[in-house]
Parts: sequence; structure tokens; C-alpha cells
Amino acid sequence: MTRAGPDLFPAPPGATAGDDDGTPGALLDLYLPLCRDCPERLVVAHLGQSLDGRIAAANGASRWVTGALDVVHNHRMRALFDAVVVGAGTVRHDDPQLTVRAVPGANPVRVVLDTRRRLGPAYRLFNDGAAPTLLLCAAELAGPGERLGQAEVVGVATAGRSLCPRAVLDTLAARGLRRVFVEGGGLTVSRFLAAGCLDRLQITIAPLIIGSGRPSITLPEIEQLGACLRPAVRRHVLGSDVLFDCRFDG
Ligand SMILES: NC(=O)c1ccc[n+]([C@@H]2O[C@H](COP(=O)([O-])OP(=O)(O)OC[C@H]3O[C@@H](n4cnc5c(N)ncnc54)[C@H](OP(=O)(O)O)[C@@H]3O)[C@@H](O)[C@H]2O)c1
Repeated sequence: MTRAGPDLFPAPPGATAGDDDGTPGALLDLYLPLCRDCPERLVVAHLGQSLDGRIAAANGASRWVTGALDVVHNHRMRALFDAVVVGAGTVRHDDPQLTVRAVPGANPVRVVLDTRRRLGPAYRLFNDGAAPTLLLCAAELAGPGERLGQAEVVGVATAGRSLCPRAVLDTLAARGLRRVFVEGGGLTVSRFLAAGCLDRLQITIAPLIIGSGRPSITLPEIEQLGACLRPAVRRHVLGSDVLFDCRFDG
């Protein structure tokens, strides 16, 4: 990977220890642990949110919450992982391609979580042939050899009413997809976080207030703030946005 120039990661005024200071060390800290041949199994999620914790407007419009540098960051992340996972809500609202276009690199396998198979076949990623694509659904809804467009339909165990995140990861690992990037939306990332399935969670905060809309992380209620998750965090400045790189892997 080539080193990004200081224009991509400018040093924030008054940067403190733990901040991205624009040095190669800060970039290595963000990307080196994610590079191929580092950990065998790695699950990282990302969300881009407003100051008030929204990832989209109430009608699902989310282009764009964060700035161009965060978009480039997302494409880098896709290029560094075996598979990119999104929930059915993201496909329904965004009709995303989930390919690597803003940076050099190979497209990951695209994985859509749709427990009850509510999505039809017309979405781009089911038809464009740009990368292998899997549609993961409840095991009883997947027939042998079934496809949705060009996507392979794969049955996965459920936990309650949704796909079990661990079963999703085991299903992908059985296909050699051990490095997984969970790209949204909020429900999907929250379920992986609640299940203890994330090694890292990257939240990029943009300086806008949406005021209502789709929430970012939602977890079961807690009684005391002592029960909060307090991951080790490093901050990286992406233009006017700030990426919080949270580590849960010790
Ligand atoms: N700002 C960002 O970073 C960002 C990123 C991505 C998307 N978005 C926006 O976020 C919105 C969508 O987010 P969202 O939170 O509403 O929905 P979402 O996470 O994209 O999708 C949720 C749906 O996916 C399925 N799903 C997710 N996790 C599952 C699991 N573990 N097991 C089974 N099914 C699972 C479920 O579908 P069923 O109920 O059909 O089973 C669930 O209702 C869109 O507006 C999109 O534009 C923003």
C-alpha cells in the first residue's frame, strides 16, 4: 500500500497522544494491523455518523454523512478484507456496489444479510457480476443451489429473529473468508457488536446534526455507566471528520 500524503490525513491543530499526527506511524497504526497475512481472523466494522449519532435521515438517505476522505477510507477497507458485509436495509436504501473503486485493490466477496429474504433480485450487486456475492438468510429459506440474480443463497443459523453473527462468521470462514469488513448499517453493526464479534469498530463522526433518522449503534439498555463499553481508542483526522478506531481485541 502506498503511503497517503499529508493532504489525505492532515495533522489536527493541537494533536495529543493517541491522535493521528499525520505521520507514517499513525497511518501504519490504522492500516497495518488490517493488512493481509496479519491476523488470520479479523472482523472490523465501520459507521459514518453525524454529531447526534445518526447514520442516515429517517427516509434512509445517507449520501453523504461523512466526507470524501471517509469514502476513500471505506474503499481501502474493502480492498484489505476478504468479505464486505451489509444488512438488507442498506441494500434496500442504497443499492450499493460494494466494490473497490476509489483506490487500487481487489473487490471483496459481497455478503448481504437478509434473514427472511425480503430483498428482490433487482439490486445492482445481485446482477453486476463485479464480485462474488452471497445472500445469507435463515437456513430454512435457502434451497439447494438457489440463486438470487447471480448471488448464491446460503442458509445460516438464527439467534432469535435474526441471523446469528457468529454463525455468519463461521459460514464465511468455512469458505476461506476470515477477514470480514462489516460496512453497515446501524442494526447490522450493532448486532455484531452485541454478540462480541468485532475486533475493531471504526466510527467516523462528521460535523453535522441530522436531528432525526437512523441511529448508529444501539445496544441493550444498561443500568450504570460502569457497564459501558470502553475500548482502547485512537483518533484519526479525515478532513473535517474524525475517525475513532476502537479496539476490542485486547
Ligand atoms: N453512514 C453509514 O456509515 C451507513 C452505512 C451503511 C448504511 N447506512 C444507511 O443505514 C440505513 C440502513 O441501516 P439500518 O440500520 O436501518 O439497516 P441495516 O443494518 O442495513 O439492515 C438491517 C436489516 O438487515 C438484516 N440484518 C442485519 N443484521 C442481521 C443479522 N445479524 N441477522 C439477520 N439479519 C440481519 C435484517 O433484515 P430483515 O429484517 O429483513 O431480516 C435487518 O432488518 C440506510 O439508510 C443506509 O443508507 C449508513
